[in-house]
Amino acid sequence: MAETLKVGVIGLGVVGQRMLGRLAAQQRLEAVAVWDTDPAAIARALAAYPALHATTSAEELIAHPGLDTVYIATPPGPHMPLSELAFDAGLAVFCEKPLTVDFDAARHCIARIEAEGHRAAVNFALAASPGLSVLQTRFGIASHLPLGALREVQIELAFATWPRPMQAAAGPWLNERHSGGGFAREVLSHFIFVLQRVLGPAKVQAHRVAYPDDGITAETALRAELLAGGVPVRIDGRIGNDERADYNRMLWHADGGEIELTRWFGQIEQRLHEGTRLEDDPEAVRNASQVDQLKQWEAMIEGRSHSLPGFAEALAVQETIERLLLP
Ligand SMILES: NC(=O)c1ccc[n+]([C@@H]2O[C@H](COP(=O)([O-])OP(=O)(O)OC[C@H]3O[C@@H](n4cnc5c(N)ncnc54)[C@H](O)[C@@H]3O)[C@@H](O)[C@H]2O)c1
Repeated sequence: MAETLKVGVIGLGVVGQRMLGRLAAQQRLEAVAVWDTDPAAIARALAAYPALHATTSAEELIAHPGLDTVYIATPPGPHMPLSELAFDAGLAVFCEKPLTVDFDAARHCIARIEAEGHRAAVNFALAASPGLSVLQTRFGIASHLPLGALREVQIELAFATWPRPMQAAAGPWLNERHSGGGFAREVLSHFIFVLQRVLGPAKVQAHRVAYPDDGITAETALRAELLAGGVPVRIDGRIGNDERADYNRMLWHADGGEIELTRWFGQIEQRLHEGTRLEDDPEAVRNASQVDQLKQWEAMIEGRSHSLPGFAEALAVQETIERLLLP
């Protein structure tokens, strides 16, 4: 096992800079080289981490000696071409979500991954969350349904403004409909990932999406009804009419009780209906599944099994999201 795994980071905006901080705080994954089309973003990264090598192109970054993996944190547009470039060099790719809205490019990438055996994963942060493990235990395919039959799933999202304060410094793409932006791709995709991982593919039954009249700005509200694994799913997402900067709630309602996950799954509440007992300790589930996302990335680089979604799973999420965004 190599001492450190060397990381090249492409895209040094809000999320790329945050990842540099996370990498600096642990031992095994070492950021060594960076690239961004914006010189100011590179300058910010070098000011914070002077040991980084700044390259002058994506090609130069990918050719950096000794690199094990590339983390792609650009807006969605370049995700597929940059992944292909990294595959050409045999590097493991950890790509930000949403995977892409260019489905042909995604399918080409996925075919290559399968045919050539590339290592690739997408950063849906909830993949390593204790909340997802709880849901899989209670409602997943292998579960013995300790909460009884699942009756409904609700997903509620509310944002006082868009973009959210944490991403206020991101590029204009984030609020543009045709550049991969909007809250459905940016936030709802995380919850559709969880839904589909636990229940399988979702089918959109009905939906209503509101767009500003300018033809450019991303959606401002989305309501929808889906079916996943035979279970009705209701989605209610909106910008404005709410003081909360980044509110999210997923409610799984079953015959024997319900599980409510809020604050990006940071808060998990399991409520039992009378006469029902949960036979295991949620705290134990939480501890057992507290797997650091970076450890999963290491496993992916080393070709070991991991819980991160691959490109095909991320494409399936995006297919559902894009259906919801049809006017
Ligand atoms: N996993 C998560 O929890 C999470 C959270 C927020 C955002 N994201 C995703 O991360 C990605 C980046 O989001 P962000 O908020 O950092 O955006 P951002 O606009 O702040 O940063 C994007 C950076 O990419 C650079 N860039 C654009 N095209 C490039 C190219 N071809 N080559 C190199 N650099 C390029 C830009 O100059 C910019 O510095 C998006 O896909 C977004 O959806 C993920």
